[in-house]
Amino acid sequence: MTSNKDLIEKIMQLKKEKKAVILVHNYITSDIYDIADYIGDSLDLSRKSANTDADIIVFCGVDFMAECAKILSPGKTVLHPKRESTCPMAAMAEADDLRKKKSEHPNASVVCYVNTSASVKAESDICCTSANAIEIVNSVKEKEVLFVPDRNLCAYAQSKTDKKLIPWDGYCYVHDVISIEDIKKAKESHPDAHVMVHPECSPDVISMADAVCSTGQMLDYAKKSSATEFIVATEEGMCARLKREFPGKKFYPVGGICTQMKEIRLYDVYMALKMNQFEITLDEPVRKRAKKALDRMLELR
Ligand code: 13P
Ligand code: SF4
Repeated sequence: MTSNKDLIEKIMQLKKEKKAVILVHNYITSDIYDIADYIGDSLDLSRKSANTDADIIVFCGVDFMAECAKILSPGKTVLHPKRESTCPMAAMAEADDLRKKKSEHPNASVVCYVNTSASVKAESDICCTSANAIEIVNSVKEKEVLFVPDRNLCAYAQSKTDKKLIPWDGYCYVHDVISIEDIKKAKESHPDAHVMVHPECSPDVISMADAVCSTGQMLDYAKKSSATEFIVATEEGMCARLKREFPGKKFYPVGGICTQMKEIRLYDVYMALKMNQFEITLDEPVRKRAKKALDRMLELR
């Protein structure tokens, strides 16, 4: 059995030989942080994949994130180390269903959350992430916006805009089950803690937040805040990331595990680099249309 230390050495060697970059989402298991060139939220990682000069991008995140890298950097080899690492919320919207819904709302602009397949992005006017959903919704000229697929992020954006948002019935199983009672209990145990909530949580839970943040914004909030304790309502791996950056502060998770994010292990990253697996490929016309939606977002913010 190869130790983590051996694996890390081998990965670093292969990374150099193959001119690869390793991009890692905040929720990925913390041992993978040690081999990352960059760790971030969906928006940060999209920007990094658009701008890297590496030949190979190894994407440690769920499927749609690796797809985004390929959409933005078609000339590069994009490797997704584990096929099973897929986002169930992204699978709740399919291109055929979106086309049907678009025909029911011909005057609406289509904003898709980044947690969507390339084919759903290809049907959308502009993409957004949890870090910029409000700005993106407000940026479109149409008064009506079809927002796909997260109903909770849609409700949050609706509370901050005059546009009429038409929700899709998708949700994240990790965030949607977090309850007001979970937050109340955590507040009883940690009365001085600030409450950071991811906008994939339900409106009830969001109403209890001191700050509503993407995972990247949670890092900024924890850095700038004078508070030293934080209740963190999102996937529990985020607390490992926060503790790593701010060892002097305390973080209390309120939220379960995204099992799909935890699929990717160090060994899978090693095999991905060694065997060039599993390469993301996309239908070119779909990729080009999906890129327009992502480019529009990246031009704005
Ligand atoms: P972030 O963009 O905030 O990292 O969110 C991605 C995600 O999948 C949250 O569940
Ligand atoms: Fe998808 Fe939820 Fe997992 Fe994020 S936490 S990748 S939205 S299932």
